[in-house]
Amino acid sequence: MAGIVAVVFIVAIYMCTEVALKMYVQGGGGNRDQEASITGDGEFGSTGAADEAGVEMGSMSYFFEDIQKERPVRFSSQQLRAFTRNYAHKVGSGGFGVVYKGRFPNGATVAVKVLNSTLGKRAEEQFMAEVGTIGRTYHINLVRLYGFCFDATVKALVYEYMENGSLDGYLFDPPPERKVAFDKLHEIAVGTAKALRYLHEECAQRIIHYDIKPENVLLDAGLAPKVSDFGLARLCDREDTHLTIPGARGTPGYAAPELWMPLPVTHKCDVYSYGMLLFEVLGRRRNLELGALHGRESQEWYPRWVWHRFEAGNTDAVLARAAAAGDKKEKEKAERVCKVALWCVQYWPEDRPSMASVVRMLEGEDQIAAPSNPFAHLAPYDSSASAVPLPGDTTASGSYGSSSSGHVLSAR
Ligand SMILES: Nc1ncnc2c1ncn2[C@@H]1O[C@H](COP(=O)(O)OP(=O)(O)O)[C@@H](O)[C@H]1O
Ligand SMILES: [Mg+2]
Repeated sequence: MAGIVAVVFIVAIYMCTEVALKMYVQGGGGNRDQEASITGDGEFGSTGAADEAGVEMGSMSYFFEDIQKERPVRFSSQQLRAFTRNYAHKVGSGGFGVVYKGRFPNGATVAVKVLNSTLGKRAEEQFMAEVGTIGRTYHINLVRLYGFCFDATVKALVYEYMENGSLDGYLFDPPPERKVAFDKLHEIAVGTAKALRYLHEECAQRIIHYDIKPENVLLDAGLAPKVSDFGLARLCDREDTHLTIPGARGTPGYAAPELWMPLPVTHKCDVYSYGMLLFEVLGRRRNLELGALHGRESQEWYPRWVWHRFEAGNTDAVLARAAAAGDKKEKEKAERVCKVALWCVQYWPEDRPSMASVVRMLEGEDQIAAPSNPFAHLAPYDSSASAVPLPGDTTASGSYGSSSSGHVLSAR
């Protein structure tokens, strides 16, 4: 009898151990460091083919746990092929690669940004910086980085998918279904400012974005804005407020003057780019539209056009453009956006407001003092200029003057 009991007992212990082991494997075990380093050789890489059903939901569950609360997960290139059904749906492309739509086995849609494999060392550095940076940030107005892939053939980032693409699609000649009221644009601008406030002032280490532009403000299903692309971001200590970086960065038209001149660079370069974005929100047009089919007005550099209206005390045309069908409240918001934009693009970084102050001004909590001329250093304004000089043509006196950010220097 005692023998039978002993056998039953041993069998029960064996079964319990097996169940516990299974749970450990499916649940990812207890060690997060191990989870983050799973590669194509591991259990999940064996799914191989570009068949999303091949990636088992059960074995993926711990990824989602990780994704919910912790840092980005490392995926294999086979997994990315499965998520994107062999890269079937291209969403867009930028300077560093192509973005594809994909789907996790649990149904969540993702954006997979595959970096050009021919890119040199800088892109690889950028990639690692992006992974490290986003892994340490979380904010409602920042795009989540779910994971990444880094192997010999594929370098990619896996982001949450944003249903409504990027803000440029709502600003520049949008189709009727994408024409939104100025209230909505104001909300988007405030959310974007909050993301920058967080990066500059609220997260553990200050993060400078370096590439704020409408294409990097993504919109979710409810049009809530989320800032993407920390590819150019560098972590910098708060003590270390001045950081001189070699080589220009950012995108022409949005990059602050100090980014392309031998001047110290601080987080205020993001404030400048944000200001340029605000002008585009205000005008629902690119700040500079070269060779556009539009009227003459659109050939002027818009920020300067706005300043001259503002200086003359005649902002009606600016506000009408922003909030044409809007009520008084909307016009007030547009007026705030106009003044804040002019503050943000001040030539000297120290004259630009902090992003915390930008949020307060946009939300109407702080009074906004009258901005001074951000373009005083430019060649004299020629309101009769029928065409703007091409970027790079610094000899002309038109309304847009330099190779990278619309500035022609003169003595202060
Ligand atoms: N997470 C995402 N969800 C949806 N669309 C995205 C996402 N990331 C990028 N996109 C789209 O893909 C385009 C290309 O992105 P990117 O490679 O970052 O270049 P850029 O930002 O210079 O346009 C973006 O303009 C955007 O419309
Ligand atoms: Mg981008």
